[in-house]
Amino acid sequence: MKPMLDVVDLCKSFPVRNVFGRMAGEVKAVDHVSFSIERGEVYGLAGESGSGKSTIARTIMGLTRPDSGDIFLDGENIIGTGGTREHGRKVQMVFQNPGSSLNPRRTVGQSIGVPLEAHGHPRSDRRRRISELLEMVQLPADFAQRFPHELSGGQKQRVAIARALAVAPKLVVLDEPTSALDVSVQAKVIDLLVDLGRQLDLTFLFISHDLSLMRNFAKKVGILYLGEIVETGDTAAVFDNPRHDYTRLLLASVPVISAEEEAMRPKIELIDGEIPTAEKLLALRKAQGG
Ligand SMILES: Nc1ncnc2c1ncn2[C@@H]1O[C@H](COP(=O)(O)OP(=O)(O)OP(=O)(O)O)[C@@H](O)[C@H]1O
Ligand SMILES: [Mg+2]
Repeated sequence: MKPMLDVVDLCKSFPVRNVFGRMAGEVKAVDHVSFSIERGEVYGLAGESGSGKSTIARTIMGLTRPDSGDIFLDGENIIGTGGTREHGRKVQMVFQNPGSSLNPRRTVGQSIGVPLEAHGHPRSDRRRRISELLEMVQLPADFAQRFPHELSGGQKQRVAIARALAVAPKLVVLDEPTSALDVSVQAKVIDLLVDLGRQLDLTFLFISHDLSLMRNFAKKVGILYLGEIVETGDTAAVFDNPRHDYTRLLLASVPVISAEEEAMRPKIELIDGEIPTAEKLLALRKAQGG
């Protein structure tokens, strides 16, 4: 069977301007990236800030047009279809900050109703569908009348998830869905996503800095470094036995909570006792002839 998502040789560069606004070069935000996600699977993308994670998400959502490459969703090439109904029915996204992705002047019910209306869901059935979606994300039906400022961060993110699921997409792109939330709430939101994935047979692209959440949620993972996937495979295998220097560095930077985790942590020497930036690491590898 074809994978749900197949990203093939995707490239996207952005111009870099100097202080006078003149072109001073370009940054390869996404550099020949390929990966695929099987139906019903969770694929994680990890990598430090600026490694290209959101740019990949935005190209899949049709918010950014890639310079080259193809994106097949359920077998169809979706390049150039962003913003169409057809595209929206297949893929939806949950953003990092539910506070800014929900309109403060709309009630929860109105926010969830927007995609229903856009996709021609019958008006007479909208209220029922909104209650059903709220139930799916474990919020009481009367939350439909509330405004975002009356909700906690975790509750807002549940609403954003309900809104993303309103038109029953096949793929859900999660770009740091829990990083704006309290640590105590993060695991609950991930648990909810795991349940929903199973119930609704969803496929997820999960972008996160948090490697312990990644380990619990994503079956496969791709490690992004300077716009390139340097390592990919089953999450447990990649994390237990990282092959690329950068993956080791990324894992070594994870805050450790227990002695058990400390024992699992790869032992490596850090340059200057800190986590080197991508540039520093590149320079070091060059110096070492690597
Ligand atoms: N619209 C844009 N214009 C210019 N440069 C951009 C634009 N969007 C992204 N970039 C650059 O592309 C690179 C990748 O950015 P991207 O946002 O994809 O990284 P990220 O991995 O999502 O980082 P973070 O973890 O901080 O969210 C960065 O160097 C960034 O500055
Ligand atoms: Mg990002």
